Amino acid sequence: MIKILCENEDIKRDVFEFIRLHFPSYENNNEDFKISIIEGKDLELDINFRNIHEKIILRKMQENRLNKIMIKQKLYILLFDYFELHDSWGILTGVKPIKLTLKLMEKNSELEVRNILKNLYYLLDDAIDLCLDIAKIQYKYIYPLDRNRYNLYVHIPFCPSKCSYCSFLTLNNDKNTLEKYTENLIEELKVNSEFIKNPPRSIYIGGGTPTVLNEDELFKVVNTINNYYGKSLEFTVECGRPDTIDFNILQMLKENAVDRISINPQTMNEDTLVKIGRKHSVEDILDTYEMAKKLKFNSINMDLILGLPDEGQKEVINSLKIINALNPENITIHTLALKNGSKLYKDDFNNKNNMNKILEISKTMTMENNYNPYYMYRQKRMLGNGENIGYSKKGLESIYNIAIMEEKESILGAGMCSSSKFFYPETNKLKKVMQYRNINDYFSKNIEIIRKKEKYFNDFEF
Ligand SMILES: C[S@@+](CC[C@H](N)C(=O)[O-])C[C@H]1O[C@@H](n2cnc3c(N)ncnc32)[C@H](O)[C@@H]1O
Ligand code: SF4
Repeated sequence: MIKILCENEDIKRDVFEFIRLHFPSYENNNEDFKISIIEGKDLELDINFRNIHEKIILRKMQENRLNKIMIKQKLYILLFDYFELHDSWGILTGVKPIKLTLKLMEKNSELEVRNILKNLYYLLDDAIDLCLDIAKIQYKYIYPLDRNRYNLYVHIPFCPSKCSYCSFLTLNNDKNTLEKYTENLIEELKVNSEFIKNPPRSIYIGGGTPTVLNEDELFKVVNTINNYYGKSLEFTVECGRPDTIDFNILQMLKENAVDRISINPQTMNEDTLVKIGRKHSVEDILDTYEMAKKLKFNSINMDLILGLPDEGQKEVINSLKIINALNPENITIHTLALKNGSKLYKDDFNNKNNMNKILEISKTMTMENNYNPYYMYRQKRMLGNGENIGYSKKGLESIYNIAIMEEKESILGAGMCSSSKFFYPETNKLKKVMQYRNINDYFSKNIEIIRKKEKYFNDFEF
């Protein structure tokens, strides 16, 4: 068991996460990994793990951020040879390394940023290169900051069935519930639109699987957005599973200003699709992709997951060869995260393949095919401490994905489980308002959330 004793909750959380990342087996085993941190005039660290019994005194700094860095640096050096998992991310525990890189870029030259990432955060060169490549692409989308810029996110929390790796809160698509949900969502979109004067920069309908709505319902949602919010620079519908998409739905989306969709295989190996409960075949993916291509969407994204059951290098290479041949504008490559609540987590699944090698292969294969990484994030319990990376052909990066990752502009949410984020550049702070996560609350108390948002809307001229 990992036991971190520290009165400062912020330090405690960060050190716990650092140890958990590098010693995953200690999260639940019987052997203690104990670190106590006492904050007095100095910082006193007492580390007890296997045959290591060390006491370290560090000079305490004013800023908590610096104390966390110093403590993790010491632990990194002391424990490096014992790490169960090595990665390229040094002492970084946060899920969004690009946020840090962008912040450093605001005040430092590229060389200085490189040195800070290397010498302060101990990142290895491959991670530093990735951060800088992505941050340079994002920079032109984000700066100069504009406090009155906003994006619109619409959530559809339904799926036809549950995939074994997934822990997203999704509901079964019962016909009456879908109908009622559509009505409520449209009402919420209309009321929210009273607070805006200009179109959003980007629009994203995500889920769940938005295409579980039938053509008529989805049309009503898209049409409400077009009529009440106007035309944005990018309008994405995450179609997701090919078994929910047909030509008519795609054509309706295309005719109603949607210019970016995703068709998500997760893998191009038939056996794996069955094992993860995807309920569609490789052929379905190819057919759906061909339909979408005929309709000439501006951008198609395809999601893949590395580390799925019984998938090693051979299987990933096969998936990527097929996807590369299709040549979609965007590919998003996730590393499997074993999430609480998913079937794989309950089954105690692990993939024994070398995830670092698989991740490296996926990077090489996409980059060789002229895709550039343009956003990335890390999650808890990812196999091999891997990453999720969004790749794009040049100039076709998704504006919404950058906005949601880097949190430098506001996002208005609509729909159950959605969150609205109001960004204040003056203080670099986000104020969040969460919609209900229970469908009956969403149906009956939706208006309370709209009132909560009202006070923030007044701070902006959207
Ligand atoms: C919000 S989900 C919705 C996508 C859509 N419903 C579909 O399944 O095609 C977005 C993506 O997250 C990824 N994802 C979901 N759960 C994951 C997990 N446990 N580990 C890694 N990636 C995951 C999948 O690639 C999925 O396409
Ligand atoms: S991966 Fe997509 S389709 Fe599968 S359960 Fe999760 S949200 Fe639903």
